[in-house]
Amino acid sequence: MLCLQTSSNPQWVEVAIDHPTEILLDHALCEKKAAAFALAMITRYPRHTRLVRDMIDLAKEELDHLQMVVEELDKRGLTLEHDAGNPYAQALHSHIRQGEPLRMLDSLIVGAFIEARSCERFSLLAEHAREDEMRDMYRSLLASEAGHYRAYTDIAREYFPHEQVRKRIEEFGQFEAAIVKGLGNTPTVHG
Ligand SMILES: [Fe+2]
Ligand SMILES: [Fe+2]
Repeated sequence: MLCLQTSSNPQWVEVAIDHPTEILLDHALCEKKAAAFALAMITRYPRHTRLVRDMIDLAKEELDHLQMVVEELDKRGLTLEHDAGNPYAQALHSHIRQGEPLRMLDSLIVGAFIEARSCERFSLLAEHAREDEMRDMYRSLLASEAGHYRAYTDIAREYFPHEQVRKRIEEFGQFEAAIVKGLGNTPTVHG
């Protein structure tokens, strides 16, 4: 799917559908961080108007998703939790080069991969979650998250040569596949 070079371990699906509460709690934090990341990109690159416009749209959609998941938590008598961090995203971020403009390119590609992997995991939950509402909710998110993957890669191609973007997506595909193979199949969106 999309840029991903490896599929999720089928064992993750088994763990995830056995722990819907944990998945929802982590999912809410993912949406919050996705919105925050888009705003951080605007803070870092304020003069890149295409990026600013697309990140505003993306942040709004992520906040809509956050609202939807918070409603779902509230229905179950649950609240948001403090964020203990996301080891998958942290591992991806560790591959971002520090000097500009490479930091910008790598940050956009990390955004793209997190969206792509989220989309893959949501499609698994849309198919396999035990509750109808969970399957419906994850199905409703697929097009939006796939659109976010495209937004990040389109922005990268707006500001960087296409061949440079293609090559870096390929390299990040290898980093990401290695990270995913090392995950412990825990009940989190990227676990
Ligand atoms: Fe989202
Ligand atoms: Fe997203």
